[in-house]
Amino acid sequence: MSNTKSKKSHRRRGSFTGQIGFVMAAAGSAVGVGNLWRFPYLAAKDGGGLFILIYLILTLTFGYTLLISDISIGRKTGKSSIKAYGQMNAKWSFLGVLTFLVPVIIMTYYAVIGGWITKYIVTFLTGQGEAAAADDYFTGFITSPGESSLYAVIFMLLTAFIVFNGVEKGIEKCSRVLMPLMLVMIIAIAVFTLTLSHTDETGITRTGMQGLAVYLKPNFEGLTVRRFLLILLDAMSQIFFSLSVSMGIMITYGSYIGKDVDINESVHQIEFFDTGVALLAGMMIIPAIYVFSGIDGMKAGPSLMFVSLPKIFASMGGLGRVVGLVFFLMAAFAALTSCVSVLETIVANCMELFGTPRHATTIALTIIYTAASVVVALGYSVFYAEIPLPNGSIGQILDLMDYISNSLMMPFISLLSAILIGWIVGSKWIISEVEYGGHPFKHKRLYTTMIRYVVPAVMLILFLEAVGFPAFFLSK
Ligand code: PHE
Repeated sequence: MSNTKSKKSHRRRGSFTGQIGFVMAAAGSAVGVGNLWRFPYLAAKDGGGLFILIYLILTLTFGYTLLISDISIGRKTGKSSIKAYGQMNAKWSFLGVLTFLVPVIIMTYYAVIGGWITKYIVTFLTGQGEAAAADDYFTGFITSPGESSLYAVIFMLLTAFIVFNGVEKGIEKCSRVLMPLMLVMIIAIAVFTLTLSHTDETGITRTGMQGLAVYLKPNFEGLTVRRFLLILLDAMSQIFFSLSVSMGIMITYGSYIGKDVDINESVHQIEFFDTGVALLAGMMIIPAIYVFSGIDGMKAGPSLMFVSLPKIFASMGGLGRVVGLVFFLMAAFAALTSCVSVLETIVANCMELFGTPRHATTIALTIIYTAASVVVALGYSVFYAEIPLPNGSIGQILDLMDYISNSLMMPFISLLSAILIGWIVGSKWIISEVEYGGHPFKHKRLYTTMIRYVVPAVMLILFLEAVGFPAFFLSK
């Protein structure tokens, strides 16, 4: 009886067709610009193989714990974050609202970044790859109000179209096509960069294979306790941004899976995909930069992708045009499946909150977010501002939104939800969901220890660091 009921409500809400569809969609959310422009940068900055090793260990412990929690909360309650947390404990609905606010904020700028990528696809498609290698090409583009808004709107509408078509026919279908394509493209470019070799003006020849060694070899030079802890924090914050945890996305996606899905196994598969793409991104970007400009050319964030890489593509000559095009197409697929997951989470929460149907809800939110994306895109021209952030950097509207959602809110939410699970509802609440139907949950002792003690402690440190209050051992 309850089974028929849950099947019915599942049909009304939409659902993934099975484990593969779910894993593809969740990996689609996890694999995004974070894998492409942040992971390689951190690996280059934080000691190569040393960072990679720490990252892998933390993914299998922290990432694993946070991802299992989100997906289980989603499937057990069958709801998105606002209602889900309320159902876990009525006094904690505020945490659901807080979690909901993260995608609400991220959505204002993710389509803007997607628009930048789309612009570069057009650039390479129309054979203007060389122009993109000029120093002020990127700045020229983002400061032009009309063009940058237009591309943001295009990407926003593309995202909206997929969400409009629903969980199975929109999200799952596009993830099943785009994710494997993306994987093939990134493997192709990574293998290609290993074959590169370049002799600079001073007569020094650097090869892709040497670049690979720079990337993979653990570098312990100048390693102090303080530096080690900073690397740990870098890896930690990268992991939960990269896995899309603590923002309600995996709760929403978890609410679309059936009881037959093996959550533990799915989490391993999603992590494998996400970490694999991050490693491949490093394998493609670090040797390429090393060959053409030495490793000091590594930069973080947008300038890596939109300024440094186009220069590298131009140095490759004619072939660079093709590689550049494939790279930006691949990046667009990664960004699109992530952007879809953000909008879907907002749509799902609103549908539950207001009882409205999918199509109307998507249209209303699309109107709001098209306007918001334009405002954020104009943050580099008409609405240009220099906003000082608590971590000491200066940013524009986009950076402010990113700072609030990622640096500030995500650790805080992880901290609170670990307390809720570990100390109030109890880790058994999650464990019983993972084990439902006889699926094994081998690491449940690790899970319980992590969620009760380790996650709260580390999230507190991350949060304090974000508000500009470094823990004593991190201060100079
Ligand atoms: N996980 C994505 C990445 O690694 C980032 C993301 C953030 C996705 C927010 C969705 C929402 O880039």
